[in-house]
Order: sequence, then C-alpha cells, then structure tokens
Amino acid sequence: MNTTTRGAMARDDWWRSAVIYQIYPRSFADASGDGVGDLPGITRRLPALAELGVDAVWLSPFFTSPQADAGYDVADYCDVDPLFGTLADFDAMLANAHDLGMRVIVDLVPNHSSIAHAWFRAALAAPPGSTQRARYIFRDGLGENGELPPNNWESVFGGRAWTRVTEADGTPGQWYLHIFDSSQPDFDWTNNEVQELFRGVLRFWLDRGVDGFRVDVAHGLAKAAGLPDYTPPEDSGSMGGDEADVPYWAQEGVHPIYRDWHEVLAAYGPDRILAGEAWVEPLTKLAKWVRPDEMHQTFNFSYLETPWAADRLRSVVDESLAAFGSVGAPSTWVLSNHDVIRHATRLALTPPPPQGQGLGPASTLHPDAVLGLRRARAATSFMLALPGSSYLYQGEELGLPEVIDLPDSARQDPSFFRTAGKMYGRDGCRVPIPWEASAPATGFSPTGSSWLPQPDGWADYARDAQAGVPGSTLELYRSALTARREHALGDGELSWLPSSDEAVLAFRNGEVTVVANTGSAPVPMPVGRVIVASGPVSEGELPADTTVWLLDA
Ligand code: NOJ
Repeated sequence: MNTTTRGAMARDDWWRSAVIYQIYPRSFADASGDGVGDLPGITRRLPALAELGVDAVWLSPFFTSPQADAGYDVADYCDVDPLFGTLADFDAMLANAHDLGMRVIVDLVPNHSSIAHAWFRAALAAPPGSTQRARYIFRDGLGENGELPPNNWESVFGGRAWTRVTEADGTPGQWYLHIFDSSQPDFDWTNNEVQELFRGVLRFWLDRGVDGFRVDVAHGLAKAAGLPDYTPPEDSGSMGGDEADVPYWAQEGVHPIYRDWHEVLAAYGPDRILAGEAWVEPLTKLAKWVRPDEMHQTFNFSYLETPWAADRLRSVVDESLAAFGSVGAPSTWVLSNHDVIRHATRLALTPPPPQGQGLGPASTLHPDAVLGLRRARAATSFMLALPGSSYLYQGEELGLPEVIDLPDSARQDPSFFRTAGKMYGRDGCRVPIPWEASAPATGFSPTGSSWLPQPDGWADYARDAQAGVPGSTLELYRSALTARREHALGDGELSWLPSSDEAVLAFRNGEVTVVANTGSAPVPMPVGRVIVASGPVSEGELPADTTVWLLDA
C-alpha cells in the first residue's frame, strides 16, 4: 500500500458505507486470450474501477475448479485455477487494488466442494462409515437394496439432491447429498475436520492480505437433524427466499460457525469482513446473520426483489434499516449479481420470473429494453443515495441488459442441463462485458474469443463509447458515486419527505434531497439544484421513472 492510504483503505469501518463492485472473473477481462477472463485481465482494468469511484471489489471464485458451476465447485480452496492465472497474479492484483485505494474481498464456498476435491475423492475410495465419508453427507439409500435416495430433497438446480456412488468393489453403494449440482457435494458442518479446514482457508487468504470474504450460501451450511423430507412450494426462487422451516436453509446451526469465523477475522484487525449470501426472509430473521459477533454484512435480497413501485420500496427500505439497525449493522442494497436477471431487463418485467429461471428465446416475457434501462438508472440512483453499503455488479454501470437470445449450444449453467432446458438459468447475466467498441470481443479479449457469445449491439454499451458522454449510463454512475462520496451519503441518515403523489418517493439524506418518480406520468419537481439525474429533467418537472438528487437552491 502507498504511504498515504486512500479511499476505503483509510478506514477500519469502511464496509459500513462502501460501494462494493462485483467482479465475475470469467467475464470481466481476458488477458491470456483464451476467451475466459483472468486475474491479469482484472489487474489491467482496475484503474477503470478506481476511476468509476467504487470503494472495494468482490471477486467471484477463481480457485482451482473443474468449473462445473463456473468455479462455485472448488477443488482446492488455497490455489488459483490456471484458467485465471497463478497465486502470484492474485498477489499482484491485490497489491494494485490496494494501491488504487480499493479493498478486495474474495468468495468463500463452504457449503460444498467440488467432486474433484481431494477429500471427496478420498471419501469415494473409502468405505461407508469411514472418517473420509464423515466430512460429507453420505447416507444409505431407502428401498430393499438402497436403490431409493435417503429423502425427497431436490437440487436447487433441478432434479434430485442425491447421487448414488459405486463402491470400490463395483457394487451400487451409498448416496451423497448435493443441494446444488451433483458435482458439488455438501460438507457435513458438524464435522471438526471441516471446521478446521475452513479456518485454515480463511487464514490463508487473510495472510495474503484480503479484506474479507463473501460467503456463498451462508444460509445453507447446517442441515436439520435427521434430514426430514421437504417439498418446496411451486415457483419458489431456487435459493430459498421466504420459505419457513426448510430443513436445509436458515437452520440455527449456521450461527456458531460465523461466530467462530468472526474471531478468526478479528485476529487480523477490525477492518476484515464477512459478507453473507443468505437468501433469507423476512429481514428481521436475516438480521441474525449480522449480529455483532457474526458477519458484518449480508446481501439484501428482499431489496433486490422489490419492484419499482414507491410503496413497496418505502416499506423495504424502512424494514431494512430497522432490522439491520436493531443489531447495529449497516443495511446493504443490491440490484444485480451473477445469479439474477440484470436489473436493466428485470425492472421491465411484472412480475419477473423466479430467481434462477432466467430468460431465453422461448420465454413468453418480452421486456421493453428502453423502459427497463430507464427504470434501472432511476433505481440505481435511488439506491446509491441510501445510507449503508451498496453492491454493484460488473456491467450494470454500462446499462447492460440480460442477454436473452443465447443459443442452447452456448449455455453453460448447470440448471439448464439439469432441467432439460426448462430453466434457462443465469448465463444471460454473465456474458463478457464490453470495454472498447471497436476492439476484438469489444475489448474483453485480445483474440476476440469469448466463452459466451457477445450479442449484436454489445459495442454500443462499451465503456469507451460512454466515457465522457453526458447522459450515458457510465457517466450517471460516476456522477452518483462522486456525489455520494462528497456528501457522505453512505454514512448518512434517511428521513422521508412528504410527497403529493403516491408514485413518488422523496427523502432527505444530509444535505441532499432525493426524489424518485416510479410512476408513468411526469410530476412536479421540488425546487433545488440538480446534482444527479437518472434521465433528462426539465425545469420544474420530474419525468416518469426518473430519480434526481437536489441540493437546496
Ligand atoms: C450461490 C452462487 O452465487 C451461485 O452462483 C452458485 O451457483 C451457488 N451459490 C452454489 O455455489
């Protein structure tokens, strides 16, 4: 780090108000030319993120992995997959980010490993009842010859959540649990060796200097004793959502694990954080994940799933501030990530498909791209003015839409295959992002190759086509992030202002007044100096689907 610490690097409690930018490494920037993004590519493009004005980056997995679920199937938690580079490339990326004043958090995937992990291989080679099998959830099958799975659980990617193994002597054997793909066996978190493994993984990355961890499936590690049968309701989002009493989600047993990790991190100082990916509702229940001795933040998926409607937004903001505030945690806000339909598309769908379903050529929903982008810009402008910490997903600052017309032959999400194409899955939000309008693969890769095809028109969204262009989505994000920092909105407090129209939300944060018109008709705009506007505004009038930030005149 430089002798003068900059930006988020200067504060121990940086995470309370940070804007954290999610890098999805395989789709961010490819330096090697193989069509998959990598760590040297990230390093080269970090200055663009510093210039955008984010405080931190979160990197989705880049660890050794067969890539059956885009790296969320980890074979070695303490090494870099050659696809993404080396540990030295990681160290260089981290040092560069820190020099630029940005914190770095990495993904931790503790619910399951890959079947290629040395422990799972050892478990397959060892007999039932062995210590090797005890690290995972192996059970005998039901039925006369164990030919039926141990319970009725379904994988969130479709199909059953159990796979039967062939024992060393060639006979059909036990079954192992995988809440996700069959390539992702669940660990047994009551096992001491598993607990010790992950303490070691945390220390490995903390020793290298990371600022924290985004914890994958942070609501899933503990399973109900006895693994009772459970049938999810039709059309529930695949990651959990608001279902009560699911034997594999939100079990009390997750909390001692996070208390333990909290102590591991605290030994490195007060500025290292745990951010949980917990799909848990209601928010009052989710707040348990961020009690003072557990995690620091948790993603606010209730906010992400809120439609662009004034009354719903006001409720979710109030509920979030109250729930997180009751345990002394900051609220977080998020609109997009690598698992959901990009919000520039989603906000034009009423209602959007359940999480994980995705969109494809045969979907019956046909989003209006212009409406979606207008709402997305307004929604982001609203979000970035809220007190707390906000997450951005790579490409949203370019206004990227979901890519709907990916050919089946290009799709890679395991959920597409496990449901025989019934779920399109998440590839549409993972298409490599455009940097330069006239470069091969729009600047993503020097050879022009791209692991998912970039659609026609992608160049129009390129960063260099938007940089310096007044009114572009990139410049909107930049101006909002600058004003957010200048007026310390992340550390501020929200008070609602009265509004004359039920489609309008207005609040004050410090010296900034924020007004959002979620309706379809223009409304009168309060007097003031506009410092951020999500779309064109004319004197005295706030158009439909538009948010402005005002300073007193
Ligand atoms: C949540 C991750 O965000 C998602 O991409 C992944 O497929 C599942 N967890 C399983 O690890």
